[in-house]
Amino acid sequence: MAETNRRVLLQRRPEGMPVPEDFTIVDDPLPEPGDGQVLLRGIYLSLDPYMRGRISGVRSYASPVGIGEVIEGRVVGRVAHSRHPDWREGDYAFGGQGWQTHSAVDGAGLTRLDPAAAPISTALGILGMPGLTAYVGLKTIGRPKARETVVISAASGAVGAVAGQLAGRLGARVVGIAGGADKCGYVAGELGFAACVDHRGRDLDAELDAACPEGIDVYFENVGGAVQAAVYPRLNDFGRMIMCGMISEYNDPTPRPGPSLVAAVRKRLHIQGFIVGDHAALRPEYLAMAAPLVQAGQLKYREDIVDGIDNAPAAFIRLLEGRNFGKLIVKLGDDPTR
Ligand SMILES: NC(=O)c1ccc[n+]([C@@H]2O[C@H](COP(=O)([O-])OP(=O)(O)OC[C@H]3O[C@@H](n4cnc5c(N)ncnc54)[C@H](OP(=O)(O)O)[C@@H]3O)[C@@H](O)[C@H]2O)c1
Repeated sequence: MAETNRRVLLQRRPEGMPVPEDFTIVDDPLPEPGDGQVLLRGIYLSLDPYMRGRISGVRSYASPVGIGEVIEGRVVGRVAHSRHPDWREGDYAFGGQGWQTHSAVDGAGLTRLDPAAAPISTALGILGMPGLTAYVGLKTIGRPKARETVVISAASGAVGAVAGQLAGRLGARVVGIAGGADKCGYVAGELGFAACVDHRGRDLDAELDAACPEGIDVYFENVGGAVQAAVYPRLNDFGRMIMCGMISEYNDPTPRPGPSLVAAVRKRLHIQGFIVGDHAALRPEYLAMAAPLVQAGQLKYREDIVDGIDNAPAAFIRLLEGRNFGKLIVKLGDDPTR
């Protein structure tokens, strides 16, 4: 049977939490690369929270995915056919497009990956967009100092795990917030945070008080909702709140009533949002720092790898329910490097 391009398309816009029927899977002929393009056979597809916004139809900092279009996503893969002088069949690259097994992409837009330097999947996680997000948030907004208390939500996740480890390396006392005993055990044990509070536990307020006896100087916000409501009153004067994401609110049909921001004035808080795409210039600096640490095992990461593109919609729903554990990646095809 001829090889096909298996693709996940947006069938309809989700209302609230996405369901499998919002997606449809089709087989199309392989795309033909044009002049200057390559055909990339996908090995790993990154699933990320921002995709919930892209399928909602609401125009924000990026345009939405149209009905019947392939869902947006970043892919690591192997060049199957090249019509670009710099790329040869068998080369590994980051820059494939969408929830699909193959894509024809401009050779100039691909980044070469060296499987000997780091597992190629890390280009989607710790050495990719989520890792850079952690770095940008800390460097440009949080700026933690030694002995300050830094709280990180979604602490076992792709962004949170890196943010906490980097803040710890700066001498801060880092407290994670994560869902469930397994994730908290990983954050406080393997990742070396000073403590980790379970937001699904019985009394988030009391546990935060116990874990942060001197209040909170920097909050790396990944979650929003009830977690944000518990952290916010515990911010110290001149605290910094890094507004990275609020995943617990992405499926709300209407916006929730917000916290009172009066304290932002009284406590002279710095609450600032950012989009990692505006900080691409920091990527070389981040990689120069992080890649050797990853190679030496001093910056740890965890991947949650799901097999097969057909499982992408269910895996994405798992992410929005907080049931992924580590950077969520879909394995599209064989990885000859592992
Ligand atoms: N600003 C930017 O440029 C930028 C770039 C990348 C990512 N982000 C944001 O960063 C955040 C983390 O992204 P990630 O890629 O690292 O994802 P991730 O942490 O690997 O996975 C998402 C995690 O969010 C938590 N979560 C999901 N639903 C929740 C709920 N209802 N209540 C509380 N926690 C919930 C879960 O962890 P627990 O079970 O531990 O709660 C889940 O595992 C997201 O908000 C994302 O939108 C922003």
